Amino acid sequence: MAATGWPAMASEPVSRRRALALLGLGGMVIAAGGVGWTSCAAGKPGSGEALTQPQLLTSRDGLLEVTLTAAPGTQLAGRESSAWAYNGTSPGPTLRVKAGDLLRVKLVNNIDQPTNLHTHGLHVSPQANSDNPFVTVAPGNSFDYTIAVPADHPPGTYWYHPHHHGTVADQIFAGLAGALLVQDGLDLPVDDDIVLLVTDTTLDGAGNVIPPSPMVRMAGREGELVLVNGQYQPVITASPGTTHRWRIINGCVSRVLDLRLEGHRLTQIALDGVFLPAPAEHDRLVLAPGNRADLLVRPADSGRYALISEPYDRGGLGMMGDMMNGGSATRGPVTLATLHSQGPAAAAPPLPATLPAPPVPPDTVTARRQITFATGMGMGMGFTIDGRSFDPDRDDQRVQLGTTEEWTIVNTSRMDHPFHLHAWPFHVLTPPGTSPAAVRQDVVLVPAGGSVRLRIPFTDFAGRSVYHCHILDHEDLGMMATVNVSA
Ligand code: C2O
Ligand code: CU
Ligand code: CU
Repeated sequence: MAATGWPAMASEPVSRRRALALLGLGGMVIAAGGVGWTSCAAGKPGSGEALTQPQLLTSRDGLLEVTLTAAPGTQLAGRESSAWAYNGTSPGPTLRVKAGDLLRVKLVNNIDQPTNLHTHGLHVSPQANSDNPFVTVAPGNSFDYTIAVPADHPPGTYWYHPHHHGTVADQIFAGLAGALLVQDGLDLPVDDDIVLLVTDTTLDGAGNVIPPSPMVRMAGREGELVLVNGQYQPVITASPGTTHRWRIINGCVSRVLDLRLEGHRLTQIALDGVFLPAPAEHDRLVLAPGNRADLLVRPADSGRYALISEPYDRGGLGMMGDMMNGGSATRGPVTLATLHSQGPAAAAPPLPATLPAPPVPPDTVTARRQITFATGMGMGMGFTIDGRSFDPDRDDQRVQLGTTEEWTIVNTSRMDHPFHLHAWPFHVLTPPGTSPAAVRQDVVLVPAGGSVRLRIPFTDFAGRSVYHCHILDHEDLGMMATVNVSA
């Protein structure tokens, strides 16, 4: 398995969309599909263990002061690996603060390449030593971050990960990520409140993280091992008649999660950290890389119920890419974890009828922009935004602080790109022409050949930051741009 590792695993069943594209080529290419990764799953260690929670570090008296040391060597999927960890574990500790708190992180870089830290989804300053994506922490160095979480910050589920351009995907794929919670003062009727940080990676027989081929990188790598809190297919035990808050974070580099839970509907209470107006029921829930969903789970009668991610076709590079094994449709279905319901049958407790009111979308728009995501085919294979590749020194958009803008994100390529903006979460107008969604989010999937319209309040914080594709291989390949917000 070690020697044949990545390339063999990277093939996947041919999706309908790709099959149509491939018809002209006869059976040749189709025959290359169908080598599912399930054939490699047998004997993967870790399966069946109880789900554990990362160490929880909570603020006190308005302050959370932590040192995060990024270094090689940690348990992953139940075995020793040379993966990278924060403070010895992957994921790193869960950081929990309250709105109005100060988060101080000393980031120590003990890996062999530059890194930095991003507080994904937080509406905080992007400047200086706050959530600044332009910081570089060289190997052997450290950096002191101070992040002031505003007093009116929505409580919810966020996460942290490295953001050093060029190696973001590599570093997350190698294990660097953690949950970041803004605590609420609510009394939700839950018996348990847990983090499920989903990541994927590929390890060889010796426990080394395997880098993708150039073609797979362009498609956006998807690891063979899909992990929850660093564990392979862990088990969550709970009894009927209880309620559990699951904070699901899609921390995968490229994989879109299309979630379902056997025997249950999914009751969602929050998206990207922000409460929905009321609990919403779904059979399936799609989370792009970077997205989070908080669920209320009320276990059904005794039994084992798999939390599954179904295959999701996010498009591909086109015929040449697919022929070279770089197709990007998610393989699967993949079991992430199992809910083991145990105990006497009991009626499901009622759900809360309402949730705290989400932020109100502003209705005055001062400027409109169109932003185009494209992938150039042929020799260039560029991943661009508005025809350009990322340049940290260039201002791509200048925005006046305190205004609300409407951005139309157009995707001219053959694959989906999840749009993400730092520091200023947005409201999605779905479908175009309707009023903005009540809920703010910070990642939205822009379908291949499609577009989405966003309303973005550029409030509270001035400074330069970035927007990018959250298929982090694409971001590293240049699909990122800057926004400068000033008074
Ligand atoms: Cu989670 Cu700029 O990223
Ligand atoms: Cu982010
Ligand atoms: Cu992309």
